[in-house]
Amino acid sequence: MARILGGLAASHVPSIGGAIARGLQQDPYWKPFFDGFIPGQQWLRDVKPDVAVVFSNDHGLNFFLDKMPTFAIGAAPIYPSADEGWGIPVNDPWPGITPLSWHIANEVVAAEFDPVICQEMLIDHAVCLPLACFFEENGTKKGRPVKIVPVGINTVQLPVPSLKRCFEFGRAVGRAIESYPEDLKVVLIGTGGLSHQLEGERAGHLNKEFDKFCMDHMAGDPSPLTKISAIELIEKAGTAGLEFMNWMTMRGALLGDLREISRTYHIPISNTAAAVQVLEQLPRMAQAAE
Ligand SMILES: [Fe+2]
Repeated sequence: MARILGGLAASHVPSIGGAIARGLQQDPYWKPFFDGFIPGQQWLRDVKPDVAVVFSNDHGLNFFLDKMPTFAIGAAPIYPSADEGWGIPVNDPWPGITPLSWHIANEVVAAEFDPVICQEMLIDHAVCLPLACFFEENGTKKGRPVKIVPVGINTVQLPVPSLKRCFEFGRAVGRAIESYPEDLKVVLIGTGGLSHQLEGERAGHLNKEFDKFCMDHMAGDPSPLTKISAIELIEKAGTAGLEFMNWMTMRGALLGDLREISRTYHIPISNTAAAVQVLEQLPRMAQAAE
């Protein structure tokens, strides 16, 4: 059976792609951010996953404000990237794993969720950059070590799902993964956040205290997070801080006890509170023996 090894979370900002392209990982501005990935890179080298299920929000490559699915699941054999208009390089494609995608889609629909299923899907910086940072060791290309299942969440345009709904959707995805009959090792990645707002009167809004609260409850009891409404999340984390919903969906898909491998929090990268967190899911056998 497929097994979930753990969950990784990281902020995504287009300028990270520019920094990788220019080799700025040791630059004083960027070094604290990129160094945050080192424990996750080491952990991934140790556990050697086969698949990454990536929870993120699309930034206009697939969906725009006229059509915005609440949840979307990629079911494509390959996921190309494309020019996002930020001047960042277009990433090479990542391979998909359509049988697992369809299994997840079937199971979450059976669990009464209604995602859009995308047999073609582009991946933007929200998918490509965290993958690059976690798997390619600060941009040095080493092929594509995992296949991916991208899962899109509407964090962009109201009405957005609640954190509770995201958590429950994540639960359904996690149960689907663990019922997949093939012996695959799966990691989950939630991208985006943490607090930031890029427009309007509150442009530049950051909330260090709330971000710490979120990371504490990602590693521990997530139930207080499920009580936060979408509007309250905007008030606390900023409009773009809604991307924490991607972290929350990932957290929902972690079904067992957790051990926090690492967390880093760095302000600011492009007016964003940039964070990286790695959570290992303890093997069920070990949990049963405890
Ligand atoms: Fe974003």
